[in-house]
Amino acid sequence: MSERILLNAFDMACVGHQSTGLWTHPDDQGHRYRDLDYWTDLAKLLERGGFDALFLADVLGVYDVYGGSRDAAVRAAAQVPVNDPIMAVPAMAAVTSRLGFGVTVSLAYEQPYALARRMSTLDHLTKGRIGWNIVTSYLDSAARNLGRGQQIPHDERYEMAEEYLEVCYKLWEGSWESDAVVRDAARGVFTDPAKVHDIEHKGRYFEVPGPFLCEPSPQRTPVLFQAGASPRGTRFAGTHAEAVFVNGPNPGVVRRSVDAVRTAAREAGRDPRSVKVFAMLTPVTGESDALARAKFESYLEHASEEGAMALFGGWTGVDLAGAPSEQRLEYVETDANRSALASFTTADPDRAWTVGELARFIAVGGRGPVVVGSGVTVADELERWVSEADVDGFNLAYAVTPGTFVDFVEHVVPELRRRGRARDSYPAGTLRENLGAAPGPLLAADHPGARYRLG
Ligand SMILES: Cc1cc2nc3c(=O)[nH]c(=O)nc-3n(C[C@H](O)[C@H](O)[C@H](O)COP(=O)(O)O)c2cc1C
Repeated sequence: MSERILLNAFDMACVGHQSTGLWTHPDDQGHRYRDLDYWTDLAKLLERGGFDALFLADVLGVYDVYGGSRDAAVRAAAQVPVNDPIMAVPAMAAVTSRLGFGVTVSLAYEQPYALARRMSTLDHLTKGRIGWNIVTSYLDSAARNLGRGQQIPHDERYEMAEEYLEVCYKLWEGSWESDAVVRDAARGVFTDPAKVHDIEHKGRYFEVPGPFLCEPSPQRTPVLFQAGASPRGTRFAGTHAEAVFVNGPNPGVVRRSVDAVRTAAREAGRDPRSVKVFAMLTPVTGESDALARAKFESYLEHASEEGAMALFGGWTGVDLAGAPSEQRLEYVETDANRSALASFTTADPDRAWTVGELARFIAVGGRGPVVVGSGVTVADELERWVSEADVDGFNLAYAVTPGTFVDFVEHVVPELRRRGRARDSYPAGTLRENLGAAPGPLLAADHPGARYRLG
């Protein structure tokens, strides 16, 4: 039987995540991001479709690079307004029992002691279904509003992230022994003080004597998601990530990132196949190819190219306002998200992108591909990506929400199930086991975080 294709839904607590302007389409309900029932309905739908996780993106600033102003992003609702992604998770967990939740939290602006506790709280409340998408952030606008003035330089962000993870591992794995909590009413002992340890961390960026505040949660360390794709980001992902997000307009571009991350995992002493790689992709599907195509055409009519360029400015730090649409895109080094620009320039020497082509491409589905067709056509295309790009699955973005996910569950999931590529039921309770990132709920033995584990 063929391998199962892993599936995450990709959403954000905002009106327009990757497909800017589509909020004006009559089928889009993105404005309901403020309503708890938007999230609980979505979670139930995804669990019915056998999805591994709902992955929630987040940023802490507005996209204000394009034209030196935030106006284009604000007008088009390009990832603004945006709420905190964490709040809806316990509500979604209450109406599901197996779906995982990958939550993005930046480590650039918060002490590890506080962030580690939030993650453990979520792991307890979801009974082990939490993943943390580790981001180092890329928007200067976030840095300005969070007391830093400007971002920490690109590669140094990853150096800080290395120490951040070390502190988190010490807290999650090395502070409380597994049998520390005894709840012995007769002796009046809830927790044995001898089994709770200070971590005594003193490093370049952080000083945390410990101990951790939370008792061990089902997975202890949440499943670690990461999306670094620059050389330094890839090394970080190869060392720490159990699931990696990659992004690129075609399987050839993505394949390079996948090979690089699997090599980095091997070099870090880990099984490269235990790192699950997801490519971002937007499926537009319906009863037939023609109906799906008609849907896509109607989406294009509502897409905002200006909003797309606002997103591109924030991702890359490159302002293309006023650039002629036939101008060719070139790579420049910035302190933003380096791989976003590379994927349209250096990563594919056979393809030159103009500014106009870029704006049209990004306006539906962001930086990833859009696959349009019946359930059979989309399933064929997913299988092609799996074989050509060597990805384990997909981070499925929406054109309209929740319509894109409803359509996918109705038309593509049954076809994938027929091919043995999607599951009917979940084997286990925790996200880590369901993803196949480790044989049990805890970090795999070859993961660097496992070194901090107490007996
Ligand atoms: C599919 C995908 C999702 C991402 N989601 C977020 C996000 O929600 N928030 C964020 O700050 N960065 C996000 N990123 C950006 C990454 O964290 C990272 O900054 C980016 O991939 C660039 O890494 P690099 O600087 O090593 O090239 C995402 C990247 C990808 C590919």
